[in-house]
Amino acid sequence: MRLTVIGTGYLGAVHAACMAEIGHEVLGVDTDAAKTAALAAGRAPFFEPGLPELLARHTRTGRLRFTTSLEEAADFAALHFVCVGTPQQPDSLAADLSHVEAVVDGLAPRITRDSLIVGKSTVPVGTTRALGRRVTAGARDGVEIDLAWNPEFLREGYAVQDTLRPDRLVAGVTTPHADRLLRAVYEPMLRSGIPYIRTDPATAELVKVAANSFLATKISFINAMAEVCDAAGADVVTLADALGHDERIGRRFLSAGLGFGGGCLPKDIRAFLARAEELQVGEAVAFLRQVDRINERQRLRTVDLARQLLGGTFAGRRIAVLGATFKPDSDDVRDSPALAVTCELAAQGADVRVHDPEGVDNARAVLPGPAYHTAVMTACRDAELVLHLTEWREYRALDPARLAEVVRAPRLLDARNALDTAAWHAAGWHVRALGRPAHVPQPGHGEPVRVTIPHALGAPCTAPTAGEPVSGAPA
Ligand code: UGA
Repeated sequence: MRLTVIGTGYLGAVHAACMAEIGHEVLGVDTDAAKTAALAAGRAPFFEPGLPELLARHTRTGRLRFTTSLEEAADFAALHFVCVGTPQQPDSLAADLSHVEAVVDGLAPRITRDSLIVGKSTVPVGTTRALGRRVTAGARDGVEIDLAWNPEFLREGYAVQDTLRPDRLVAGVTTPHADRLLRAVYEPMLRSGIPYIRTDPATAELVKVAANSFLATKISFINAMAEVCDAAGADVVTLADALGHDERIGRRFLSAGLGFGGGCLPKDIRAFLARAEELQVGEAVAFLRQVDRINERQRLRTVDLARQLLGGTFAGRRIAVLGATFKPDSDDVRDSPALAVTCELAAQGADVRVHDPEGVDNARAVLPGPAYHTAVMTACRDAELVLHLTEWREYRALDPARLAEVVRAPRLLDARNALDTAAWHAAGWHVRALGRPAHVPQPGHGEPVRVTIPHALGAPCTAPTAGEPVSGAPA
């Protein structure tokens, strides 16, 4: 089939490449000419495992092309996927729908044959209906334009596999024709047994927002338990393992630590709160405010614990930060908890050295102050404290004994509960983590000694939030 993908950020670029992979002829569209040029040359403008290979393969054959022209898009196909960003508005919790509206307003008058526009961006419930009125107003006489919503559930770092082998496909449609077209697009996936849920657009919009809200709630739940563990001398990792054996609960998304960030979870729960208020059901989802608060608190707790480990002050103290991106296997630093903590440490006078395997350029662009390194050993040289803030695989492979030789003091704060703290402890490190008893090396016996975490919260951390690109940001 011929189709276009409008907006070539994390979501759109991956969707376009994967649609070509399953056999469609695809035209990707973005207002950013530099981005479309890179994609057309087979280069991914961001780090996403597996994407460069797909781009190279399909741009070479011409099955996947890119343009900045909506005119060309309208001419190319009668099926258009909208994948532009819906970031948080600067002055409210609500989502900024201006990019989605701009695409629909720009596309509808250019369409000359009956067509289907399929939204994939994450939007507040009710958006498809509101956009439908704009489409009708903009469409040429005699041209039927149908609108459907087909949310995307891909995770950064696994975006290609999540798109090619999703857990489910959700199609919010109002006509049998839209349903038929979407089933045809995803035919190879349906053939392999992936569930296809046909529903109305409002339910489809809500599935996405509810899924992200549930995931965020799960993370904040375990982080709340981590605070209780700190107060009670219990271990949140063992707690999560034990809870996770209950199939109704499950272990995934129960990793306590610095909390969630990125371009999706934080802004999606806030946009949901805002939309629920508009629908006068704010009370029903008020718990999401607490989910957000618990999440923000993890950043402050990490800073407080780091300060405590350094004896009460950051001024002039050298700190090595491992990780800048909001999660591993991504170079995305949008609302990165790691960068928010780094920002606060630097603001309080610490001499911060940051390492990240993929995110250094993006991190420097939003937080230019700290020194950035691409070698862990260099970042850690003479550090009085090592902070593990993003759980990249390479940090788990570090040799704590070797690292102990380059730092000034072997102190580790594992804010992701992902390192083998017993091994670090055995190599002579004073190890702390959120929600776990402390490992303080004790001459003569191996019993860990508990250290109390301060619960007084400081001023809110001024978390850096990278600006969204004009279009093509992930939903
Ligand atoms: C999230 C959802 O997982 C996807 O299903 C969804 O499609 C996507 O948002 C979106 O709306 O586009 P993503 O933002 O790529 O995907 O990242 P996640 O893997 O969900 O992680 C989000 C954050 O939660 C990260 O900062 C991660 O470190 C944190 N996290 C995750 C935890 O703190 N603990 C956990 O147990 C799991």
